[in-house]
Amino acid sequence: MESARLAWHDSFVLGFGPVDALHREFVELVGAVQAAPDHELVDRLAALAAHCEQHFEEENRWMIETEFPPRDCHIDEHNAVLQSVRDVQALLAQGDVDNCRRLAEALAGWFPGHADHLDSALAHWMCKRRFGGKPVVFRRDPVARQSDEPVTGA
Ligand SMILES: [Fe+2]
Ligand SMILES: [Fe+2]
Repeated sequence: MESARLAWHDSFVLGFGPVDALHREFVELVGAVQAAPDHELVDRLAALAAHCEQHFEEENRWMIETEFPPRDCHIDEHNAVLQSVRDVQALLAQGDVDNCRRLAEALAGWFPGHADHLDSALAHWMCKRRFGGKPVVFRRDPVARQSDEPVTGA
């Protein structure tokens, strides 16, 4: 029933330091909610909610300030996630643990795709603007990364 706890992996590195730092923290805090016993959930979820507020606000600000073209759908996704976190916080305050567990699973499933499709484009954009080039990413484990790539051919 319980799925794998979200944990940091080199495949999450996007090459723009400030985004990578936020993402390490996000992964750690989601993992902490997943691993928490029931009586710690309120505190763990509060820490995650505070982080999400800051994380999304910071990314939104970069996108707006630099007029990142595809910013609207990215900002919408942040807002939807933040709203879910707040809704579940309200439910948890009334003792609803199940929705909190489900949220943690959902966030663990949501993050890799969001990072890959939306945050990676932002990271490239920010590196280009700041350093005039694409990010150079060094990964210890390139094989694991390749397993995420679609398999083509017969
Ligand atoms: Fe992000
Ligand atoms: Fe994002």
